[in-house]
Amino acid sequence: MSLLQLQSVSRRFGALQALSEISLTVDQGELRAVIGPNGAGKTTLFNLISGFFPPSSGDILFDGEPIMRVSPSALVQQGIIRTFQITEIFLSLSVYENLRIAAEVAMGVSSRPWMSRALRARIDERVQELMQVVGIAAKADRIAGELSHGDQRVVEVGIALSRKPKLLLLDEPTAGMGDEETQNMTALIRRLNKEQGITTLFVEHDMEIVFGIADRITVLDNGTMLAEGNAHEIANNAAVQAAYLGQAA
Ligand SMILES: Nc1ncnc2c1ncn2[C@@H]1O[C@H](COP(=O)(O)OP(=O)(O)OP(=O)(O)O)[C@@H](O)[C@H]1O
Ligand SMILES: [Mg+2]
Repeated sequence: MSLLQLQSVSRRFGALQALSEISLTVDQGELRAVIGPNGAGKTTLFNLISGFFPPSSGDILFDGEPIMRVSPSALVQQGIIRTFQITEIFLSLSVYENLRIAAEVAMGVSSRPWMSRALRARIDERVQELMQVVGIAAKADRIAGELSHGDQRVVEVGIALSRKPKLLLLDEPTAGMGDEETQNMTALIRRLNKEQGITTLFVEHDMEIVFGIADRITVLDNGTMLAEGNAHEIANNAAVQAAYLGQAA
């Protein structure tokens, strides 16, 4: 069953055609990589899906419903959750506090001046659960700003999970990471998809990761869809080799 559908989606910025006539379908439970050279339109695609701006033309359907004019916050309520190319967490707060705030917001209790002990316990339970799922529980009391870049991004994924995503959009989740951090994040993305069934789109430049974990791969180039397929199909696609792999090699 398809969860996300883009039908001839285009987006212009003034004279610049950032995306043209993109049609794609992401199935429920799929782990989809979006790849392409710098400026190909990958982040723009995420901005459109998450409602940061509407397409210039074309339709976007989530769960069969059009979402082109739905606000980002309303889309979060519907389960479309994203992380950004640049890390966004509270650097002066601990890991626990970052996730506590996220859990409170997600549970709709963040502005309550007073909370019952039962509610606090429920929030704590949720935070513990989130920390376990992403594997950061051992660093609960560490100040986020003092964590490694890789761990900060793990916290960020935890924050995204607090929203119970139906569709998770990860924009370059391994950017700037060392080998071990990259492996850890890659394993986390895969685990969330396989064990929790979270439909995921991720932008990634490292082809080894893409070919290693993605069910299907969408290749963008210069705002157009160059190819789509599984790792084998993409690796053997002549247009992809010429436009992308050739350039990276
Ligand atoms: N808000 C905007 N206003 C104007 N131009 C934009 C805007 N967002 C993106 N663009 C332009 O659209 C094109 C696609 O940008 P986009 O950020 O989607 O590329 P990308 O594939 O994510 O690249 P990268 O790999 O460098 O992150 C670029 O030419 C970019 O300059
Ligand atoms: Mg980008």
